Order: sequence, then C-alpha cells, then structure tokens
Amino acid sequence: MSCRDPHSYTDLDQGRVTHMDLDLNVDFDTQRMSGTAILKLAAPVTGPLDLDTRDLEIRKVATPDGAEIKWELGGKDEVMGSRLRLDLPAGTQQVVITYATSPEASALQWLEPAQTDGKKHPYLFSQCQAIHARSVIPAQDSPLARFTFGAKMTVPEALTVVMAAAPGEAAPATDPGRRTFSFEMPQSIPPYLFAFAVGNIVSRDLAPRSRVYTEPETLDRAAYEFAEVDKMLTAAEEVFGPYLWDRFDFLVMPASFPYGGMENPRLTFLTPTLLAGDRSLVNVLAHELAHSWTGNLVTNASIDDFWLNEGFTVWAERRILENLYGKEAKSLAAAIGRNGLDEALAEFGPDSPFTRLKTDGKGHDPDDFYSLVPYEKGFLLVSLFEQAAGREKFADFIKKYIDHFKFTSITTEEFLEFLEQELPGIAAKVDAKKWIYQAGLPENAPEFTSARLEMLQNLARGWSDGLRPDPTEAAGWSAEDWQIFLQELPRKLPLDDCRWLDEKFHLTEQGNAEILSNWLIIAASSGYEPAFDRIRSFLAEVGRMKYLKPLYTALYANEQTKTMAVEIFADNAGSYHPIARGGLERILAS
Ligand code: BES
Ligand code: ZN
Repeated sequence: MSCRDPHSYTDLDQGRVTHMDLDLNVDFDTQRMSGTAILKLAAPVTGPLDLDTRDLEIRKVATPDGAEIKWELGGKDEVMGSRLRLDLPAGTQQVVITYATSPEASALQWLEPAQTDGKKHPYLFSQCQAIHARSVIPAQDSPLARFTFGAKMTVPEALTVVMAAAPGEAAPATDPGRRTFSFEMPQSIPPYLFAFAVGNIVSRDLAPRSRVYTEPETLDRAAYEFAEVDKMLTAAEEVFGPYLWDRFDFLVMPASFPYGGMENPRLTFLTPTLLAGDRSLVNVLAHELAHSWTGNLVTNASIDDFWLNEGFTVWAERRILENLYGKEAKSLAAAIGRNGLDEALAEFGPDSPFTRLKTDGKGHDPDDFYSLVPYEKGFLLVSLFEQAAGREKFADFIKKYIDHFKFTSITTEEFLEFLEQELPGIAAKVDAKKWIYQAGLPENAPEFTSARLEMLQNLARGWSDGLRPDPTEAAGWSAEDWQIFLQELPRKLPLDDCRWLDEKFHLTEQGNAEILSNWLIIAASSGYEPAFDRIRSFLAEVGRMKYLKPLYTALYANEQTKTMAVEIFADNAGSYHPIARGGLERILAS
C-alpha cells in the first residue's frame, strides 16, 4: 500500500497522473474558468481512479476518442472538497475532463479594476498551497503525486497570462478579442505549485536568469527593490548546488495577495508590501528562492511534514542573508523569528499538538493550523543539526540531501533515516525525536544573540521603567531594529507613551509595512485613536494575512475597538482573498 495523504482522496495504488494538458478559457464576467483537462496516467488503469475537486462543475469525462467514462462526484467535505471517482474502462491511459471552476473557487481571486494598481483592467490570480489546486484543476491533489503539464489559457486580448511554467507563444484566439497563451512545465511539480495570474502585466529583465513581472505602475519600484536577485541566486547555489528550474522569475502581485511570498517554480509570487523602497524586506525573496531546493525539489509528503519545507527554507534564507549582509543580519532575523515563534507557542498553548514539528492534521483545514511553528521551530532544529555536525559537514549533507531526494516528496521519517545514514548519531545528540514528535520548545533550543540585538531588547524591556531610545539614534535604526524594538515592547502602552513614540518617530506614517504593522498592533491594543484612520486604511489596502490576522485580533480583543474590527471587516471582506476571508471570519467569530 502506498503512503496516503490525509488531505487528499489520492490513492496511488489505483494509478498515477503524471502529466496534464489544460485548455482553459478565463471568463471575467462569470468569474469562471472552463475547458478541458487531459490527464495522462503513468500506466494503463482499469476501474476506479479518485481525484480531488472542490466546487468544480464536472461536465463530461471521456477517453481521447470521445467515449464517455462514468464518473461520480461525492458529497462536499468542508476540508477535503469532493472526491471525483472515475470508473475507467480497461487499459485507460488518458482521460479528458470537461469542467468549469466556480466563482467561489478557493484558490482564485478575481479582482475588480479598482483593486489593481492601474485601476483599468481586471486581474485574476491563483494561490494553491496547501490544498486549493483542486478548486482549479481536477487532480490527485497531494504532493505525493507530481506531474508535468502543458497549458493553454485564453483571455481578453488586453490582458497577459503568466504562469509558473516556461512561457510559449501568445496567439489570437478563435474568439474575436481574445488571445491564447501557451505554457509548458517540463519539470514535475506537486499540485500545490500550480500557479498563474492574468492581468495587465509587464516585465523587466534584472539578470540573465531573472525577470520581474508586475503591473506597469509598479515596475520601476519592483525592479529597484529586487535588483540583488542574482547575488541571492549565486549564494543559494553555493548552499544547495545547481538551480534546476532554468529561470528564477517573479511576479509582484496586487496588494490583496494573502501571503508574503509563494515559491511557485519559475515564477515566485510576492506581495507588494515588500516594496519598502530600501530593500529592507528582500529576505522574503531569498526565502522563496531557497524553496527552489527545499520544497520544490525535495517536497513534504503531506502537510504533516510541512516543517521539512519551511524549516529548511528559513535556515537557508538566513544563510543567504548571512552571505550577503553578514552575521548580525542573520542574528536579527533569527531574533525576529524567535519572537514570532514564542507568540505562536503561547497562542496554541504549551501542549498543543500543533506545536509539534510532525503534525497530525487529518480532519483539520491546513489554513487553520498554519503558523510559524514549522518555520521557526524547524529553523532551530536544522540549526541544531548544523551545530552538532559542524558547518562543513552539514554543508555537504545538505547538498547530498537535495541531490538524493530531488523531484520527490518525502516524510519526516524518510528524512530521519537519511540523516542517520549520512550523519550517524546527530539526531540522537540533539534529541531530534523530542523536537519532532513532542509539543513545545525543547530546552536545547539554540540562541542567536548579538550586541545590537541585546541593546534593542534591553531598551524595549526597560520601557516600563522609563527607559527610552535616544531620538537621534533611533532615527537611524534599520527596519529590523525597529521590528525588534516594537515586538519587544508591551502590547498595551499608556496613551502618553504612544503619543511620544508617534511624535518622535512618525510611526503612523511609516512606509515599511513590517514596522507599520507592528506599530499598529500596539496602537490597536492601547486604544491610541490618532492611529485609527491608518489602521482602517491599512486593513483596506493589504491582503497579506501576516498583517491582517494579528491586527484584527488586537482590535477584536480590545473592548474599545471590537465593533470597529467588525465594521472594518464588513467593509473590506469582499476584497480579501477567499483564504484570508475565511481566516478572519474565524477570528471575528471567536
Ligand atoms: N509557501 C509559503 C506560503 C504558504 C504556506 C502558502 C502555506 C500557503 C500555505 C511561503 O514560502 C512562505 O513561507 N511565505 C512567508 C514568507 C517568509 C519569509 C516566511 C510569508 O508569506 O510570509
Ligand atoms: Zn516558505
């Protein structure tokens, strides 16, 4: 029996979809995509083949020569969606599914022109991780089922399609006023990395292997912010070995994109909140780039092994930062991470199973238990392995690990077995099983300190005793300095203190989204009214959950601003991505 993914109906013993050819028409009026998906199987299959779907309208299933195939769509499970069971005639190797997506497709956000930078054209994008690909394509939607694909997408001729794949040509469609874009994805991907966007999208080359895509209005800022991409790519190849996806292009998304970044292969998606104007938030680009190895080449078998994706990637992200900007940059980043981890652990509670690295997510929506735990607890464990093995040996191990498991999806246990084989005794030395299978943070967690970090922490921790930053000095603080300082301050400050901070450092007018969001959380928890308008406008502008969730939580927890939270949400819910909307509804219902 093959390994089963608790979040998918996929049964690889039935057969395996290894290639998909899509031909889809994008209709902005009805907010539907419709057309055909041709699924090619690794070997002929007879009998049942189960696929994942969510809100898909299945119109017809047939063999390539048109003979109808029997199918049955199961009831809708809130977490998993609906099982599509095909009953394949003897020896079937290809299936043609004619279908349409729903306007409610959980992976898709259809934007009105007003929600774009240019305000003239509509926009559509996908976000499939963790289990939303099934709302766009009928698939074995498990990271265990990698596939290659070809895709044709037909859209209004004023719009451009970009996809996490190699672009082919764009040609006039048979329908007047429409164009068809073609793509090929030669490297096999897990379904959650299927991604595309449609809009008024232009691009600029930044390096031989990298190009930035964005709406025209944002192109200059984006090109400036990410100009260092090639240095990152070189640094990442030093850590991991060769880059195997040909190109590393990226797309700066409309503001409603619910994440900081998404590592879609050959086309990373990035939030525009990274455009701080001073390259201070480029760690997210380094992070998504690092996923090209840890995540996209070596992939978690299911969301329960998510830490293999994120923990290693955060470790690599910080190694890249260290190569580019030095040790202190790494310590500060690790400290920011540690603050986030402590908050997540406190929120879940000390014994929560979701604070284990290996989770048991069956029956739970991955979007519900998404947290910094796999990222930051994972980072700490990988750092421990590195310390225990020694930097040189671990560097060799990482390259070997990638090479050994590339283009496969693995469980935590497979990783541990490989670790034991390559670095015997290391896992036991750091008590890896405790880290992986037990809740909370073990005592041997590595600490990352630096003189600067301690200075900032001491300053913030002395706040209640009257300690204050020197305004001239603090005016020269970096974005990381501010993040650490604000994160370490008490959440609820006396109004006079809020006023002092705001007058001295103009925090409410901050252009850096990390600093601004940390400040607005304090302002919300403290009931500092002069920042309320900015809170309203920020929550209307951005869709990144990292900012929305804590800010709504802070507003909702404060009796003074509870109704304000509900009102702001009512005003903006329609412009949030379905995934973000769902997450916020849960916060505001608690
Ligand atoms: N792959 C994740 C985003 C993701 C995770 C989307 C799970 C859906 C489900 C991406 O690589 C990521 O971790 N993004 C972070 C950036 C980061 C530097 C930690 C984010 O969005 O904030
Ligand atoms: Zn990540």
